[in-house]
Amino acid sequence: MARMKPRVFSAMQPTSDSLQLGNYLGALVEWVKLQDTHDAIYGVVDLHALTVAPDPAVLRERTRRTAAQFLAAGVDPERSTVFVQSHVAEHTQLAWLLSTFTGMGEAGRMTQFKDKSAKVGESGTNVGLFTYPVLMAADILLYDTNVVPVGEDQRQHLELSRDLAERLNTRLGDGSVVVPEPHIVKETAKIYDLQDPTRKMSKSFSSPKGLIEILDDPKKVAKNIKSAATDSGTVVSFDREEKPGVSNLLTIYSALTGRTVEDIVAEYEGKMYGHLKVDLADVVVEYLTPVHERAMDWIESPDKLDGVLADGASKARGMARPTLERLYDRVGLIAPQLQG
Ligand code: TRP
Repeated sequence: MARMKPRVFSAMQPTSDSLQLGNYLGALVEWVKLQDTHDAIYGVVDLHALTVAPDPAVLRERTRRTAAQFLAAGVDPERSTVFVQSHVAEHTQLAWLLSTFTGMGEAGRMTQFKDKSAKVGESGTNVGLFTYPVLMAADILLYDTNVVPVGEDQRQHLELSRDLAERLNTRLGDGSVVVPEPHIVKETAKIYDLQDPTRKMSKSFSSPKGLIEILDDPKKVAKNIKSAATDSGTVVSFDREEKPGVSNLLTIYSALTGRTVEDIVAEYEGKMYGHLKVDLADVVVEYLTPVHERAMDWIESPDKLDGVLADGASKARGMARPTLERLYDRVGLIAPQLQG
């Protein structure tokens, strides 16, 4: 049946307790917008997260926290499908099928695999890390996805998904799967570490004081802003080279208020860095408090959250099943005779 709207699929791994402001603005804010124009499916890809051998209790908690942040950001489970990857077995079933269409060399060229496996060495590298992009292709192709919003770091994986889709259509016949288009989300605002504003704000490299986390107590976030490293000089102006600290604060200010950097700079003419920090702390608290509260409400009601995810899984399965059956048939598997 023809769909009224193009379909968008995207996903996040449950690998942290909280999103950083940068991921939040770059990914979730974009996902929320896409719901207006697209039929959207958003997943918490817990099976992908298994490739880094997480602690079981931590994984379970992070899966719920990740979903809670989707909902708190405004992903609407009435309009979109929000689900957990492992709840829909078709993902792994299609991944197996796709793995038989993927060349060893092709998978071996994935730079993220090369980087990750180089870091842990051969003895620490599991096969799941190698086939990770194949599972990702399954996530996408299962839903006849038209558009996949991802960051630049996922471009090569998306290319593999497209190559596999085209290969399936060639070998198994037209209409086997939809060839997805990447929608590379440009970092609207590249946000840097508050303590070391020459490097990107990132869980793996930043100290707790360098971060702005969505699920942190907004008071702590305000403190981090107020103690952000600033630069020599006193004039508030945007200059990434000479004033990385102040420029970072201006970027955050602009991203959260929608005002231009020039406009903000003009407001602080003749004022000190301290003024900017105090005001920005208020801006951030005002922006994050409602998001934080909504997310905490979901986290504190895991049964309610699990209910939303169960509904999402059943919607997702309803869409995934026909794709998988079509492909099973085309590769020559016999459809099972279901009893009863
Ligand atoms: N690999 C993606 C990341 O780390 C997460 C992901 C898994 C994904 N499956 C996906 C993203 C499908 C988009 C579509 O960011």
